[in-house]
Formats: sequence, C-alpha cells, structure tokens
Amino acid sequence: MNKCLVYGNWKMNKNKEQAEALLNQIVRGVERCSGVEVGVFPPFVYLEKAVMIAGNSAVSVGAQNVYYQDRGAYTGEISAVMLRSIGCSHVLVGHSERRMQFHEHHASINKKLKASLKHGLRPVLCVGESLEEKSQARSFEVLNTQLVYALEGIEGSQVQNVIIAYEPVWAIGTGVSAAGEQADSVHRFIKQTIKGFTGQDTAWSIPVIYGGSVTAKNAVEFLGQKDIDGVLVGGASLQAHSFCGIALAASSMYS
Ligand code: PGA
Repeated sequence: MNKCLVYGNWKMNKNKEQAEALLNQIVRGVERCSGVEVGVFPPFVYLEKAVMIAGNSAVSVGAQNVYYQDRGAYTGEISAVMLRSIGCSHVLVGHSERRMQFHEHHASINKKLKASLKHGLRPVLCVGESLEEKSQARSFEVLNTQLVYALEGIEGSQVQNVIIAYEPVWAIGTGVSAAGEQADSVHRFIKQTIKGFTGQDTAWSIPVIYGGSVTAKNAVEFLGQKDIDGVLVGGASLQAHSFCGIALAASSMYS
C-alpha cells in the first residue's frame, strides 16, 4: 500500500519564531506516525531553517512556488536549482491562489512542472474548478484542461513523480469542503485522465490528494475514500494540534 500524504500549506503566515516553533512541534507530534508521509510548505524565507529543523525526521519540506528558469535576470523569483540546493524536496505548482491572484497560466505551470522534475523536486500539481464552473457543470472539463496543459510534453516516466492535488476553489479557505464521496469520484476521473499520459498501471499509483477546508474533524471522511491518497491542508496546518491530529488519524488508517 502507498503511504498516505499529509501536507500542510502554510501560505503567507507565521513570523520566524512561530514558524520554527510550529515545525518543531510537528516534527515531535508525528514522530510515531507510520504509513504516512508528512510534508510542510512554509514561506520561502523559512525554508532553509525548516530543512534543518526537519533534519532526519520523516517530515519533508517543500516550497509554495518556483520559477521555471534556472538563473538570470528574473527579479524576485526563486529557481528549482536554488530550492534543491537548500534541501527542499517538494514544491506546490499551480495553486489556485497563484492561478487567480498572480495570473499563472497553463503554459507557465507546464514549464514549472518541467523545471521541478528536471532538478529532482517532486511537484504537487494543484487543480480544481471554481464555484462558477461547478455550477455550470463544467468541473470535469476544467480539470481535464488543467491536467492536459500542465502535463503536456512530460514523459510518462516523469509524470510518475508528480503528485496531483484536487483542490476545488470553492472549498479553499471557505469552511465548505467537498463531500468525501464526491471528491473520490473526481479523484477517479483525474486518475483516468492521467492514464492517457502514463498508461494504466502507473496512473493508479500516482497519488491524488484532496485539499479544501480539511480539518482534524473531517479528514477521516476523505482519507477513508478509495481514490483519495492524502490531504493538502491550509488553515488547519497552522496549528500543530490540528495538523498532527490529521497525520495521526491517517496513520491509524494506513499503518
Ligand atoms: P484550506 O486551504 O485548507 O485553508 O482550505 C487549502 C489549500 O489552499 O491548499
């Protein structure tokens, strides 16, 4: 059985002391978890210290974004080469907040995925439909487009290293999560779609995790579904007790 992924996206939160304290608590809190891969995605400025704190623990550290060029005159950007050089292992790509507020489009998301894979970062590709798209019954069409463009030109053997996060935009930070079964059917659709890139067997081994108002209370509803391979947690990852609670619940279901 694959490990269950429990990832925390801290977004633009915490000062330096709070960030270090939170990660120290998480590292201790998930020490006894088995069957779970825990990851945190702190803001860029805390990453190097986060890698040190995570040390040899089971907690991996990733960035919330990456630029697709390796180096050069790109003021304000951070490359995959740089992230690897400080020990980051993962990166979020195409989060809906970046798509909507920072105008990230399919082409740059595709380049970011390629740059991450090229330099050995494991990308977590975020996809999800908006409330408007959902109400127009266009969810599957939107997800298909996001996946096809994002993965274009990436070899099947490389797609295997991608993690997909299904994050319906209407569920992010709203307190309104998808129903477990509803999310599960979307995950099946996503796995069917990636089959076109990787072939039958591999597609089912690519982790597809759910994100959007996941809490310690509702996590089990998602983690208990057949095609949900973990969770990407925003708000509830900012407190060690709720985030570790989710990881411990996952551990009891997966180990
Ligand atoms: P949320 O955020 O858990 O606060 O809804 C999830 C995310 O944006 O990754």
